[in-house]
Amino acid sequence: MFKKLQEKWKVGGLQLFLILCTFAVTGSLTAFISERITNWVGFDENTLFAWKILLRLSILIFGYQFIILAVSFFFGQFNFFWNYEKKILTKMGLMKRKAPETTPFKLAIFASGKGSNAEKIIQYFENETLVKIYMVVCNNPQAGVLDIAKQHNIKTLLIERKTFNQTEEYVQLFKNEGITHIILAGFLWKVPETMINGYRNKILNIHPALLPNFGGKGMYGDHVHEAVIASGQKETGITIHLVDEHYDHGTTVFQATVSIDDADTPTSVAQKVHALEHLHYPRVIAEWLGIEKQ
Ligand code: GRF
Repeated sequence: MFKKLQEKWKVGGLQLFLILCTFAVTGSLTAFISERITNWVGFDENTLFAWKILLRLSILIFGYQFIILAVSFFFGQFNFFWNYEKKILTKMGLMKRKAPETTPFKLAIFASGKGSNAEKIIQYFENETLVKIYMVVCNNPQAGVLDIAKQHNIKTLLIERKTFNQTEEYVQLFKNEGITHIILAGFLWKVPETMINGYRNKILNIHPALLPNFGGKGMYGDHVHEAVIASGQKETGITIHLVDEHYDHGTTVFQATVSIDDADTPTSVAQKVHALEHLHYPRVIAEWLGIEKQ
């Protein structure tokens, strides 16, 4: 029985002894005090039984909580009993239940280029307590996104292709750093299976066209917009989707469209699409994480 109590309360033998002493002394002391108070109030054999019971119960229920804290102090067990009291007071509705600690979402943004989307995301979550843009991961030492990260005091990690594709080193590193989600924002390498398995359904990508059209290997940047114009489309747009093992594949989370005029060029379409991305990507990330922006 003592072993079970030790396990339940996660205490050693000596502490268990002191805790039991606290309970024993508190029990006797409460009975003694309750007797004294009843006498002091002037209850005798003629007093209504219900009054006696009411007073005794009040002392036992409420007085006990104070007495046990005082006694526990003498046995050096105040912290243990204060935690125990907090639970009781919460159950009695006399103390507010502490909101469960919400670990902030710790995001890593993967990008290879200019990083205009990364910047919008960083700015959007700047004052958000539940989301932290924790790291910018990049494969290109010349990428503008690295400067953006530095301006915002965000850690950067320059990754190396072989380690990224053939080992679990980066997945382990992200896990150790507590990264919960990965946001691809113009990241040009294919995400390896190890990373996808480690972050299943927790990696989001943005593609500058309406998938499933104009996606796949080689479909990035202006190549996409050139192909869209060449095929005579009257509209294009953006697709935000979960990342799986295949290029530009995975459940679509959000799409938005923009029209293409006859005068449009790949450059002007890129501008329209970028504007759509900046407008929607940060907000869609927040919704995907299930947070209401403060
Ligand atoms: C965006 O158009 C995005 O859709 C694509 O890469 C581009 C990145 O642009 N995946 P930026 O570096 O965020 O400006």
